[in-house]
Amino acid sequence: MQYAKLERVGKVAILTVNRPQALNALNAEVLTDIASTLDLLTRGDRCLVITGAGEKAFVAGADIALMRNQNKTEAMTFARMGSDLFRRIEQLQIPVIAAVNGYALGGGFELALACDIRLSSENAVFALPEVTLGIIPGFGGTQRICRTLGESLAKELLFTGRKMKAQEALSCGLVNRVFAPEALMSGAIDLATDIAANAPIAIRAAKAAANLCAETSLETGLEAALHLYVGCYETQDQQNAMSAFVEKRKPEPFEDR
Ligand code: CAA
Repeated sequence: MQYAKLERVGKVAILTVNRPQALNALNAEVLTDIASTLDLLTRGDRCLVITGAGEKAFVAGADIALMRNQNKTEAMTFARMGSDLFRRIEQLQIPVIAAVNGYALGGGFELALACDIRLSSENAVFALPEVTLGIIPGFGGTQRICRTLGESLAKELLFTGRKMKAQEALSCGLVNRVFAPEALMSGAIDLATDIAANAPIAIRAAKAAANLCAETSLETGLEAALHLYVGCYETQDQQNAMSAFVEKRKPEPFEDR
């Protein structure tokens, strides 16, 4: 695949958007390659880290040169493609960490918002500059940014297109931690490795339950969370881990059973 690559460190998969000459801008080929890379994930991959190739950008947005000449029909096809891909990332059963290593603009910010957790380097810059180009975010960012940051700050960013640097992103909760550029990937892999060491059935249930909080009423979410909770029972991993605690011994590694 030309525009996306997959590597593995233990049980952590790392997807790199790979079009550094255009700051990883997203065109149809890049979106297709990201989707094909997701197809390569296996049950052994317990956490996914997404980052961008090069030192300047995570993803500098959708490809403006491509969008410039699109008519409404083509714009719908392209936006649907990006939107569906980001929804797929959001709904992956494993946790997804965005390691934002520079510009996360437009569609790049939207990609980071579709991830479960965001970490960034000190040189990260977030913005939704679409209104300066005569459009709005097309890959679901309008919905996710309000849920992630709350309506007031989200609308300010949507209406102004202003750039938000890493420290502000940290203080408003957009990113969980900020790293020196050279420490970002090891920080992301460490976090992913910690997650990957936990019981996979429980992690999948925790992600599904947490995702419900943005997507359904409290009543429906509480009921669904009960079933996700019970779904962890009568599994080998639950029984082994609880027995190990009660018997005061180290638990066996989790086996996803
Ligand atoms: N689309 C296409 N090409 C892009 C791009 C984009 N979003 N962002 C960067 N590039 C290309 C540049 O055209 C340039 O290519 P050439 O070398 O062939 O000229 C190359 O990447 C390097 O970029 P710059 O020379 O501009 O680098 P810089 O350091 O001077 O500036 C930047 C970096 C501030 C990120 C600047 O490139 C920029 O503003 N990019 C556009 C960001 C943007 O507006 N993104 C939102 C797109 S709209 C969107 O995403 C809509 C949606 O939701 C569907």
